[in-house]
Amino acid sequence: MGDTTRIGIIGGGLMGREVASALSRWFVLENFPVGAELTAVCDLAEQQCEWFRRVPSVRLLTADYGELLASADVDVVYVAVPHNLHETIYLDVLKAGKDLFAEKPFGIDLKAARAIAAAAKSSGRFVRCSSEFPFLPGAQRACQIAGEGKLGKVLEIRSGFHHSSDLDPTKPANWKRQVSTCGEIGVMGDLGMHAVHLPFRLGWNPKRVYAQLQKIYHERPDGKGGMAACDTWDNAMLHTEVEIDGDEVPLRFEMKRLAPGETNTWFIEILGTDGGVKFSTKEPKTLWTFQRGKEQLWQKMDLGFHGPFPTITGGIFEPGFPDCFLQMWAAYIAERAGKLDGRFGCVTPEEAVRSHELFEAALKSREKRGSVAL
Ligand SMILES: NC(=O)c1ccc[n+]([C@@H]2O[C@H](COP(=O)([O-])OP(=O)(O)OC[C@H]3O[C@@H](n4cnc5c(N)ncnc54)[C@H](O)[C@@H]3O)[C@@H](O)[C@H]2O)c1
Repeated sequence: MGDTTRIGIIGGGLMGREVASALSRWFVLENFPVGAELTAVCDLAEQQCEWFRRVPSVRLLTADYGELLASADVDVVYVAVPHNLHETIYLDVLKAGKDLFAEKPFGIDLKAARAIAAAAKSSGRFVRCSSEFPFLPGAQRACQIAGEGKLGKVLEIRSGFHHSSDLDPTKPANWKRQVSTCGEIGVMGDLGMHAVHLPFRLGWNPKRVYAQLQKIYHERPDGKGGMAACDTWDNAMLHTEVEIDGDEVPLRFEMKRLAPGETNTWFIEILGTDGGVKFSTKEPKTLWTFQRGKEQLWQKMDLGFHGPFPTITGGIFEPGFPDCFLQMWAAYIAERAGKLDGRFGCVTPEEAVRSHELFEAALKSREKRGSVAL
């Protein structure tokens, strides 16, 4: 591998640790042109910081992100903090002259997303946003099949992400359940980027949206013996229209925290008059394809382990969450180095802003109980 990109993390919680895991096995990427290592971590909570002592390449642990941004030992900063902090910290990263790998939803609302995208442009820094599931082999094949235009006239598309742990009313509240820290868009901010990335990349941009938004549990245990108000949207179905080859086509985005039986299910379904394709993380190596013939036929294919960036893992093995997360990081580092070479890239600032435009329109749709043009 060539030069090594030095990465700092701000926010060493659930996702910060995933990044440490991905970077710690960078050597599994085959013939990858750039090295990557985690050099610095910032978290306000001491025990979160302490966890990163197990990563040998980490040379700076701090509770002050200003110290991390001042370090000459950091080229790229990955930020994984509550949504109300995105705008301030992302802008500070850019002001410090570092490249940014942002977490979704790229600001707490549309105004913040626009400010971050504008700063990304004016600073000239390399900025992308996280969304890892489209890097799974099944998602890549679905994207390829749809992009080749072999499905005939596209009839409808479903793209979504379902969780179920919130079905349990005793699950404690956290910052993701409150508007002040998660944002008014609620579950759309949590899960929406995952649902829009692939359709947006295929050029399917909603022209109109009708949103069904649900708040299901209004309070949860606060972890201190009391109850805390939970005021974010829990489930969202965005019924949108996109234009494909001159036709208006329904595209439904589904984002749900309460979807019975779904632990972490990302899926895409694209149906056309001549063919169709379906992929879900419920069956991580399986691709379903439809072909119209004399008889109606859905075929099931085992794909194995073929991400956009080859690794040492055998082609017959199954891919999982840590694998698509590593592939996403490989895409970020490759694109930053000008070496993406036509492969699928991470969410751009423009796409992130477009997602917020959709989610803001969805809030308006819910308010007026009608459709809203974009
Ligand atoms: N890509 C994905 O699949 C995915 C999954 C979950 C969350 N996320 C996103 O990642 C981000 C973080 O979510 P999480 O689940 O990791 O949250 P988390 O609560 O597990 O971690 C957030 C961390 O940020 C730290 N923090 C808060 N303020 C800070 C500050 N000023 N300076 C330094 N550290 C600070 C907290 O102490 C905590 O450890 C959010 O934007 C979320 O939407 C992405």
